[in-house]
Amino acid sequence: MFEDFPIHPEAVSTVARQIDTFYFFMVGLSALMAFLIAATIVVFAIKYRRRSATEIPPVVIENKLVEITWIVIPFLIFMGLFVWSAWIYFDIQRMPAETMDIHVVAKQWMWKFQHPTGQTEINDLHVPVNQPVRLIMISQDVIHNFFVPEFRVHTDVLPNRYRYQWFEATKPGVYNLFCSEYCGTDHSRMIGKVYVMEESDYETWLAGGATGSAADQGEQLFQKFACNTCHADSASARGPSLTGVFGDPVLLSTGETVMVDEQYIRESILNPRAKIVQGYDAIMPSFQGQLSEEQVLQLIAYIKSLDTQQDQTPAVQPRPSQQPAPPQSPDATQPAAGQQSAPTEAQANNG
Ligand code: CUA
Repeated sequence: MFEDFPIHPEAVSTVARQIDTFYFFMVGLSALMAFLIAATIVVFAIKYRRRSATEIPPVVIENKLVEITWIVIPFLIFMGLFVWSAWIYFDIQRMPAETMDIHVVAKQWMWKFQHPTGQTEINDLHVPVNQPVRLIMISQDVIHNFFVPEFRVHTDVLPNRYRYQWFEATKPGVYNLFCSEYCGTDHSRMIGKVYVMEESDYETWLAGGATGSAADQGEQLFQKFACNTCHADSASARGPSLTGVFGDPVLLSTGETVMVDEQYIRESILNPRAKIVQGYDAIMPSFQGQLSEEQVLQLIAYIKSLDTQQDQTPAVQPRPSQQPAPPQSPDATQPAAGQQSAPTEAQANNG
């Protein structure tokens, strides 16, 4: 009967159950409190009603014990809810160590996805079941919101800033994807489907239609825009080497250090003068307007792949841990000799 009118979406991700437990506890508690208050109003209205036109109510002396009780008990209940919900929040925000990274670009009015292996999709997202998937999301225009009710995943997608969201689907099927932030005329049509597939089906699906991985496409852009002419792995290069920098702190000309993450790389591409690596001149031109958000993400995937080539896991990125290592001097050549091939090759092919 309720198939076309679902009251509550099915729970199809690893975090859904604890969110539901909390949600139903809140609903139950609210219903209980509403009932108690309504019942008290009715009982008191009858019990303490005015019985004659000249009746004067007796003087009531406040009862400290009662007052303290009705302050302390709700306080403890609310603090309990706060601790419980914060616990859940931190638990679901903590990224699993190994995730499959999918790029998400939202725009009026569609969702664009790119898999690590390079496949792109619009308004459809295919993911394997029982595998943590991390979405690296950005908007090309206004604020959107990535909402998959069955996963209990609901995250704003902002312009100029990467947002991360992960989920692990627990059951194959097709689930609705909504934009749940009003974003203009066709907001209500900014919908899609998430296809959760068995691992083998996903592999089969992946076998079709990619022109190189996201990192490969980034490498092509790296050559096309001649990034490699400055960002070479030599001490005399005009720009800092990008090999092995991802996830590590870098020392800036201001003396500050900054963590090399997606946000920092994006800023350095679009607004290169914002943060100059120490020892280098502010000579890089801005690529604002020349690159789409998808292309920026591909370049980031390429730079990340320079970092992970040695452990042979280009598609699976553990979150960089905050390393207390001292910031590297940009003049020091990177010790990873085996990693120099990519930019050098890139230079050879350039032209
Ligand atoms: Cu995008 Cu609403």
